[in-house]
Amino acid sequence: MTTRRLVLTRSAAVIGAASSGLLLPSIVRAQSDKVRVGFMLPYTGTFAQLGVAIENGFRMAINEQGGKLGGREIEFFKVDDESNPAKGIENATRLVQRDKVDVLVGTVHSGVQMGIHKVARESGVLNLIPNAGVHIATRAQCAPNVFRTSFSNSQPTLALGKAMVDRGHKKAVWITWNYAAGDEAFEGFEQSYTAAGGTIVKKLGLPFPNVEFQALLTEIASLKPDAVACFFAGGGAAKFLKDYAAAGLNKSIQLYGSGFLTEGVLEAAGDAANGVLTTMHYSDSLDTPANKKFRLEYAKTFKLQPDVYAVQGYDTGLLMIKGANAVKGDLGNKKALYAAMEGATIDSPRGKWTMSKAHNPVQDMYLRKVENKENKVIGIAQKAVADSGAGCKLS
Ligand code: PHB
Repeated sequence: MTTRRLVLTRSAAVIGAASSGLLLPSIVRAQSDKVRVGFMLPYTGTFAQLGVAIENGFRMAINEQGGKLGGREIEFFKVDDESNPAKGIENATRLVQRDKVDVLVGTVHSGVQMGIHKVARESGVLNLIPNAGVHIATRAQCAPNVFRTSFSNSQPTLALGKAMVDRGHKKAVWITWNYAAGDEAFEGFEQSYTAAGGTIVKKLGLPFPNVEFQALLTEIASLKPDAVACFFAGGGAAKFLKDYAAAGLNKSIQLYGSGFLTEGVLEAAGDAANGVLTTMHYSDSLDTPANKKFRLEYAKTFKLQPDVYAVQGYDTGLLMIKGANAVKGDLGNKKALYAAMEGATIDSPRGKWTMSKAHNPVQDMYLRKVENKENKVIGIAQKAVADSGAGCKLS
């Protein structure tokens, strides 16, 4: 039988089944049903604003394409993961088993991500990570159905050490929350700072999401380092910036951070954030048509200023659109879907980026300085920063 005859015969059978009301073959059902998209994000707690920004960005990308994915309508499902790792598996299972999502978009917190990761690997459901940077998800436990559109936790800090030493800050204290994101941000910092000739005087930490910084700030004052470097994010970052300034340390010890420190918190932190230097894959002030258009449209739509989390949500939407368009909405065609996502170049507000073999962005890191409630780019700290992808067997 020729290929053409085969196609005709098959479609005749499909039409017959459909018109007689019999169970539709899965290919027809896949094309006509709505795509089920599940958001598993924090909508409460210290990362609540991050979850909202990611969802807004994702929806904005989809709406720019007429609200569809590969020609199919979308149905959204939502779970508030509360940035609570203890509920990670249960919440991800709910989206996969009860809501039967085709794609799970989540999450922010690295510990919660590990719950999602287990469920994604066991179920084979497509998981797009719009923030959480936990290394193992795109290293030893990388998976064909897991793609990250954000960063790995050590990527921003791999670009930080040299920038600090270049400014003459050679003795630093490191401070963070003691969990995967803080520990792995330290890994990048330690590597880049010591390679550039810096010395880490002391490592300080507190449990996530505690914000009782006072005793630690007193210790920093007595250690008198040249600089402080840190990882904090969300509501906790705003509090750290304010407490650092209230203790008078912003006058005497230059504060640096993985760029999340100054994302989405500049209104809340006010003058306390002025002069803080960070490295990050995005900046409000990037002077590109893609960023200007994005910022204008986001502000008009959501009556909020976008930040890196909104950009990551937007890029997650762009990646999903590329994949879905490549398979004309047939998300069951996983081989072609994943190939399209792996080969994608995302024309992002952050600048163009590509996907590594381990499914993590390869991207430029900017050096930024806070001035008048804006993260101003003062240079590219490092071009095309890639995570090592150590132990990942995807090729
Ligand atoms: C993480 O837990 O991986 C995480 C959370 C918030 C950030 C960055 C990383 O801003």
